[in-house]
Amino acid sequence: MTRFASPKNRDVPVAAPGEFAPLELGALSVWPPVVLAPMAGVTNFAFRSLCREYGAGLFVSEMITARGYLYGNPMTRLLAQGQRGERPRSIQIYGSDPRDLGEVVAALVADGVDHIDANFGCPVPKVTRQGGGSAIPAKPRLLARLVRAMVGAAGDVPITVKMRKGIDSELLTYRLAARVAQEEGASAVGLHGRTAAQLYSGEADWEAIADLAAELSIPVLGNGDIWEAPDALRMMRSTGCSGVIVGRGCLGRPWLFAELAALFDGHEPPPPPNLGGVIAVAEEHARRLVELFGEVSGMRQMRKWIGWYTKGFRGSARVRAGLSRLRSLEDLHSLFEGLDRSEPFPESALRASRAKGGRTQVVRLPEGYLDDPEDDTPPVPPRNGAELEAWERALGGG
Ligand SMILES: Cc1cc2nc3c(=O)[nH]c(=O)nc-3n(C[C@H](O)[C@H](O)[C@H](O)COP(=O)(O)O)c2cc1C
Repeated sequence: MTRFASPKNRDVPVAAPGEFAPLELGALSVWPPVVLAPMAGVTNFAFRSLCREYGAGLFVSEMITARGYLYGNPMTRLLAQGQRGERPRSIQIYGSDPRDLGEVVAALVADGVDHIDANFGCPVPKVTRQGGGSAIPAKPRLLARLVRAMVGAAGDVPITVKMRKGIDSELLTYRLAARVAQEEGASAVGLHGRTAAQLYSGEADWEAIADLAAELSIPVLGNGDIWEAPDALRMMRSTGCSGVIVGRGCLGRPWLFAELAALFDGHEPPPPPNLGGVIAVAEEHARRLVELFGEVSGMRQMRKWIGWYTKGFRGSARVRAGLSRLRSLEDLHSLFEGLDRSEPFPESALRASRAKGGRTQVVRLPEGYLDDPEDDTPPVPPRNGAELEAWERALGGG
């Protein structure tokens, strides 16, 4: 039987026995070497638990801000909370002050987390304008202080660092920043093969991933453009990275993790569900969102997911038109009524981006930010609850 895949992935051989090793992050061994990318507004427990049931790997939380956590912000605390049976428990944190990051890491470790990832790739203007997120790797000594503070507070819990290639094509920071992270005790570096200026546009640069994999002695996690499971094998084979981070490809497609697990275990991946199967998954996802966030917030969040789940199917425009009326699980059920559930999964949806369009940006940095790359002063974080709230709303991730 021909594999259901785009032409470039139809003939990619499944993993040979022993071809790939588990991803080793400190004492944590992850098989297959697959990581669900931290995605703000996406990788909460509802979605993580769905993905995990399909496959295996490391399923990272959406980013939580160090300040939000330390201020006891209820939503931040909810997102960071331990959930039944979730092991390994993995959390991404965002911060730009060594003391904050050290404190949050200590608190999370005491709360039983198994892995912490730090976000140094966020390209949002409100963040970089203050010298946070993807601006930090341009200040290697500051980055060193931040990683040192986290590693120092983490005990045996592995700390990994996620970054982009750099600010823009003129200022690539990843080589030096990744070396610094390694020297300061990070257990792995995740590299998204785009600059902050590129946002999510164009193709991710897998050569930069190869470059880093050759340079570092700790594992490099390759990130960017894993749309189909065989992309992961192609990325690992062509770059020599130790694992992959899967972002937009799994939006509305949690079964991608079943396909990944099969391929890494040397089997042909199962075909994707037809529309009836997709609807069943979407309804289960909605139930889990409602359980976690309550009906109002859960169903509001579900609106974007419905667009992602039904992408490329014939009835998707009609479904999208009814989204503004979605208030309850019953509404969701009615929304799907009358669709042809036997419709097969559309090939056009395999490599279609479901979030974050193709625009680029000029990265905003603080006045004179690049004058002294040796400066290790942390940027000024939000000082009070109101500033923090505005800040958290703006943080759209990395
Ligand atoms: C909706 C959305 C939210 C994101 N939020 C975060 C985040 O909180 N932290 C982070 O490090 N990266 C975040 N990212 C970036 C992804 O983790 C990943 O690096 C990026 O999407 C590239 O991988 P992909 O090509 O597989 O999508 C986000 C991406 C998307 C699409």
